[in-house]
Amino acid sequence: MLLAIQSLTKTFVGMKALDAVDFELARGEVHALLGENGAGKSTLIKCLTGAYRRDAGTLLLDDAPISPDSTAQAQALGIGTVYQEVNLLPNLTVAQNLTFGHEPRHFGIVDTRAQRRQAAAMLEGYGLAIDLDRDLGSYSVAVQQLVAIARAVALSGKVLILDEPTASLDDREVQMLFAVVRRLRDQGLGILFVSHFLDQVYALCDRITVLRNGRKIVTARCDDLDRVRLIEHMLGRELAAEEHAARRAEGHTEATGEPLLAFEQVGRRGHIEPFDLSVQRGEVIGMTGLLGSGRTETAEVMFGIKRAHSGRVRDVESGGGDGGEAADELHLRGPRDAIAAGFGFAPEDRKTDGIVAELSIRENIILALQARRGWISAPRGRRRRSASSPAAISRRWCWRAGWR
Ligand SMILES: Nc1ncnc2c1ncn2[C@@H]1O[C@H](COP(=O)(O)OP(=O)(O)OP(=O)(O)O)[C@@H](O)[C@H]1O
Ligand SMILES: [Mg+2]
Repeated sequence: MLLAIQSLTKTFVGMKALDAVDFELARGEVHALLGENGAGKSTLIKCLTGAYRRDAGTLLLDDAPISPDSTAQAQALGIGTVYQEVNLLPNLTVAQNLTFGHEPRHFGIVDTRAQRRQAAAMLEGYGLAIDLDRDLGSYSVAVQQLVAIARAVALSGKVLILDEPTASLDDREVQMLFAVVRRLRDQGLGILFVSHFLDQVYALCDRITVLRNGRKIVTARCDDLDRVRLIEHMLGRELAAEEHAARRAEGHTEATGEPLLAFEQVGRRGHIEPFDLSVQRGEVIGMTGLLGSGRTETAEVMFGIKRAHSGRVRDVESGGGDGGEAADELHLRGPRDAIAAGFGFAPEDRKTDGIVAELSIRENIILALQARRGWISAPRGRRRRSASSPAAISRRWCWRAGWR
């Protein structure tokens, strides 16, 4: 067996995230690790790669016990990991990112030509036509993800762990990634694939292991485990008939027909052609397109992050009437206006744009609540003086960030 995990246990304060989990990964297989949110998938991966210290259990790679203390050590042993959120350095070039920590040197100085050659070789077969000398951060999250995979494969070479790698990729990119994964499988790598997209699991994987509440529930070949059984294993109960129907009709929503919001001829010169879009109460609208087609930018215009040069946004619900009148028009000059109007936004790169990672969860929530009230209206009474007042949090943040 390429990789064997035996009785892996990990406890966080008061809760067992993993409870004596066994797992095996063979050479030349793609093995899906599935389970609901919080089932323990990422914890298993982090214990395996040394990012977390396990409480108990044995890890065997090529039948020899291993105990990596860090992801770098795991990588040196042959276990490479790619996370949903890219963990490379956006302000280094593509070539620098690919060879980081292993730069070819000549008398101690980085040999940039050899570095570029090495990087080009690492990207071979990925179908990416990108400039090795450009900053990685100037490329989309999707391209960055593929670069991260190329790096992990080149540096580790035995086990490749993909923790929700497709969340930010479009169809074409997913196919590209799958082609790469299949090629690596045929070369004899063992690939551990975590995903919430069951279609992708069935399209790509050979076997499935299901975790639930930190316990291993089942391991089976994809061909032997149909979708309904799989979901039942994940949920821990049998699905009622109507649930089957609802799950089959994926993408179904409960639009009520009551209009809520209308974007009319909203556009951005040179970037987004004017578009119309109206949203009903209870409706989920999918917006899709190829990489570079303007999906993210459209969302940013809708939230006021980027300026619209034309059109208007109408709060159809509160405004009443059917147009002409400007009373129901929303002026979104920035995210603050959008938040005040009741919009929320989960950005593409949540780690840098969605949260302030240096602050605690509590502090992040307080900042978000304060943003909704507006910065001017200070909290009253005890909250203002407390250490968790937004002003105090901002001060601490600036202090830590060195903006004194
Ligand atoms: N650093 C941590 N400290 C405390 N609890 C944690 C920590 N990391 C994970 N947990 C808890 O352990 C459990 C398993 O979490 P884990 O992140 O492994 O789930 P997951 O299967 O990867 O879920 P998802 O599908 O949401 O990624 C959850 O209850 C989670 O809240
Ligand atoms: Mg996870």
